[in-house]
Amino acid sequence: MTVLHETVDVSRPVNEAFAYVSDFTTTAEWDPTVLHASQSTPGAIAVGTEFKVVCALPVGSIDLQYRVVELTANKRIVLHGRSRFFNVHDTISFAPSARGTKIDYRAEFFFTPFVRALGSPSRSALQKMGRESVAGLAEALADDFPLALKNKHRAEKLLPELSLFTRLGYRLAAKRYHPMSASVAGSHMLITGASSGLGYVTARELARRGAELTLIMRDGQKAQRTVAALERETGSSKIRWELADLSLMSEVEALVERLNKRGQAIDVLINNAGALFNTKEETAEGLERSFALLLLSPYRLTEGLKPLLRKAAAPRVINVVSGGMYSQKLQVDLLTDETRERYSGSIAYARQKRALMVLTQQWAKDWAAEGIAVNAMHPGWADTPGVQRALPAFRRCTRRVLRSADEGADTIVWLAVATEAGRASGKLFLDREAKSTHLLKKTRESAAERRKLLAFLSHFPDLSA
Ligand SMILES: NC(=O)c1ccc[n+]([C@@H]2O[C@H](COP(=O)([O-])OP(=O)(O)OC[C@H]3O[C@@H](n4cnc5c(N)ncnc54)[C@H](OP(=O)(O)O)[C@@H]3O)[C@@H](O)[C@H]2O)c1
Repeated sequence: MTVLHETVDVSRPVNEAFAYVSDFTTTAEWDPTVLHASQSTPGAIAVGTEFKVVCALPVGSIDLQYRVVELTANKRIVLHGRSRFFNVHDTISFAPSARGTKIDYRAEFFFTPFVRALGSPSRSALQKMGRESVAGLAEALADDFPLALKNKHRAEKLLPELSLFTRLGYRLAAKRYHPMSASVAGSHMLITGASSGLGYVTARELARRGAELTLIMRDGQKAQRTVAALERETGSSKIRWELADLSLMSEVEALVERLNKRGQAIDVLINNAGALFNTKEETAEGLERSFALLLLSPYRLTEGLKPLLRKAAAPRVINVVSGGMYSQKLQVDLLTDETRERYSGSIAYARQKRALMVLTQQWAKDWAAEGIAVNAMHPGWADTPGVQRALPAFRRCTRRVLRSADEGADTIVWLAVATEAGRASGKLFLDREAKSTHLLKKTRESAAERRKLLAFLSHFPDLSA
């Protein structure tokens, strides 16, 4: 048996340090030897929870299957890991210290006879590895990372940027990611469109981190199934749902009224619900569907929930836009385009997303004094039920390079959780990096057009009257 023993003192409360470390998927953020880590069993972390951790070897990699064998909240967690070449027993203890938390990490390695016959790794090599891991953990818990802002000296060009929408773009960017150890336990977050795709993954990741969620969905049975699945996957018992068809302003207004009546502060509002409509249709209220769902709805919802955002300590609004907006200029008269004979679902969609981006920048400016951060993100191209339904030919051609829903949703989660993300407002993000909002000169709108958008939305008739 070879024993490694390290201690570290971090300036974080014990409950936060414990919550971060006991979720062993975070090893991928702080342990330099870990390539990938995932939870293999559903539910909250408890005795019996299993994690799959893939570690780098000098040549290739090795899979470790960890199992939690002992867990005393905020005090101690013991995990046993098994692999082809060795087993390892990790005992991690937490104690309050003057700085915050003292973490004591002990790892006992048991090499297989095969490895012992070949010559087990030297004790000094293992000790170096242990020191690096614990240093990585201390850095993760210090949670002091820079915000990746747009490089002013590097013009973003259309084709290279488009290539970053693929899963390759995600994987390149992910190499530069920082750990995300901020605690959102007890924060209240509202997510629209959580029944599938990016919204579902976002809800799952935020629930895993202990956030209290209100999910907005439009179909009662689907909502029940979604919440049951999220509870099973995450073990959370803090997920509520509200019903609203967000393409109907009467339902948006009723939702706003219900939530304001409930009065619970909203720390994070995620405007995610959306769809690309290939045929031009009007809602029962007589609005073109893309305009209603993708622009007027998030406008009314966010404006209506502002009193609840104001109640939170450091509120964040996250608008999910689309890279499609890069093709369109803001033209307010075309947003409700009644006159065009040939409708294009992709163009209608991209125009609303462009307008939502402009609105994001405007809100960020107008609400800065009240401390409300407003950002947009686009997920690249992610393989979700929405894409499968609306863009089957695009999906057939790009299937091999599409991101997973997890990869697409990653930046939504980061904007909701990361400490450094809270320092941004009025920005567009892809893969946790601020991006230019225009890739073509011809799409730049004038200040007058921006003002026109705000006047148009604020004076749009009240359809619920
Ligand atoms: N996937 C991508 O590559 C991609 C790229 C750029 C932008 N986006 C944006 O990302 C967001 C999420 O899309 P996704 O790809 O995850 O699509 P998705 O799988 O179809 O999810 C869309 C979500 O929005 C909900 N929704 C749609 N219409 C609604 C309505 N009238 N009222 C209430 N909820 C409604 C859906 O509910 P139901 O389950 O009831 O239909 C679903 O929960 C959208 O804003 C989309 O424009 C996605």
